Amino acid sequence: MKVLQLALMLALICGFAAISAYINGISQFSVSRRYQLTDEDTEALLSLHDTFEKCVSANGLGLKAAKGSDYCQTTINFPSDTIPKWKDPKTGELESLSFDFNLCEAVATWEQVRNSTTILTKEFIDSLPNGWEEYAWRRINKGILLNRCQNKTLCMEKLSLVLPETPPYFPRQFGRCAVIGNSGDLLKTKFGKEIDDYDVVIRENGAPIENYTEYVGRKSTFRLLNRGSAKALDKVVELDEQRKEALIIKTTIHDIMNQMIRALEFALSMCDSVDMYGFTVDPGYKEWTRYFSESRQGHTPLHGRAYYQMMECLGLIKIHSPMRADPNRVVKWVPSNHMIRDARIASEKLLGRVGAGSVNPLSACSIIKRQVKRNPDTISKLRKAAQDHMRYVKSSTMYPLEHNPGHGLLCTVPAAK
Ligand SMILES: *[C@@H]1O[C@H](CO)[C@@H](O)[C@H](O)[C@H]1NC(C)=O
Ligand SMILES: *[C@@H]1O[C@H](CO)[C@@H](O)[C@H](O)[C@H]1NC(C)=O
Ligand SMILES: *[C@@H]1O[C@H](CO)[C@@H](O)[C@H](O)[C@H]1NC(C)=O
Repeated sequence: MKVLQLALMLALICGFAAISAYINGISQFSVSRRYQLTDEDTEALLSLHDTFEKCVSANGLGLKAAKGSDYCQTTINFPSDTIPKWKDPKTGELESLSFDFNLCEAVATWEQVRNSTTILTKEFIDSLPNGWEEYAWRRINKGILLNRCQNKTLCMEKLSLVLPETPPYFPRQFGRCAVIGNSGDLLKTKFGKEIDDYDVVIRENGAPIENYTEYVGRKSTFRLLNRGSAKALDKVVELDEQRKEALIIKTTIHDIMNQMIRALEFALSMCDSVDMYGFTVDPGYKEWTRYFSESRQGHTPLHGRAYYQMMECLGLIKIHSPMRADPNRVVKWVPSNHMIRDARIASEKLLGRVGAGSVNPLSACSIIKRQVKRNPDTISKLRKAAQDHMRYVKSSTMYPLEHNPGHGLLCTVPAAK
């Protein structure tokens, strides 16, 4: 198979339904009062809001955040003279200038992402009740033309071509990562050299490098493909003459906005820090243009800008753009690790998350299964931060579970010795 020879690694990312819930700006948590918030918890959330608002004012190029009616909701507002241009193709309505986000959901979910593996593995499907019969075919069938996975043998045979047995990447495996979008604003600043300095560079779909290296750099460690692009894999593979990229196929069933988040999700699940370039986050962008071809419909530029600003002000990412071109720019008022941790614990309680506030990392697991053996060489070669993390989670691997009410995880733990 040509494709497999060319790709060093082909894997599938599983999705976080959780993220799509708050990305829509819906503050829809149902407070199951299983956990009582302490005074410290409410204080932690209030001080997160306070710092968050200062951060958005200081870094948001005109954006302002305001606390909503509860401990979780925040509203990010654009200046009133902003002229929205993007129209919802279904309703014909212009994009609004005000977006609600649930900070509790964001803190709890993204911090969980940072400790999870977002790559779909055989181990995961084997461990998931009805994993092969129900989960696998729903997630993957369109990508490789499978029908329902009723015949597990046949199904596994086909999937084994693309599905790794165990996680190929670990939390904190890489230090500094850059995620490169494909917005036309990349051609305004020569970020190329700066981008090549990262430990890992993640690109999307067919975004070219050749002829644009001054702006987008040369390095490419991962390329995330959505299923549409995956069908044209030969073409995408030609983009990297040296065949050094690992190709990751996103099994996405969500909208375009969500696909953009996916790149970040993958990066956050294996990098210490995540910087983003080319995501059109400066004022004045009205439509999504691509640096290598004409503009495309379907993006929600203002919502995207507000969302990325939220992520920056939760300390998850750092934004680079023409108006934020200084590589040494300091994001002011980013909440400290301490503050995020306290706010996360409070959020987990408020949202009734599995294992909220517990010091045992395995308490967040709804399903615990024995691990498929790991290669000890891989583990011993990991950088120190990743090994420290492995120790903290007792060498377990944590996978997010979709549609799990308390956002419990599926965890695999080392086989008893
Ligand atoms: C499943 O597929 C395999 C391989 O094609 C075949 O040998 C086996 O008989 C099938 N099993 C069932 C229960 O259909
Ligand atoms: C780069 O530019 C050259 C010269 O204009 C052109 O022949 C080539 O096809 C371009 N490569 C890509 C990948 O666009
Ligand atoms: C993630 O792991 C780190 C240790 O690497 C730990 O301090 C943190 O509490 C964990 N976060 C969650 C949400 O479990």
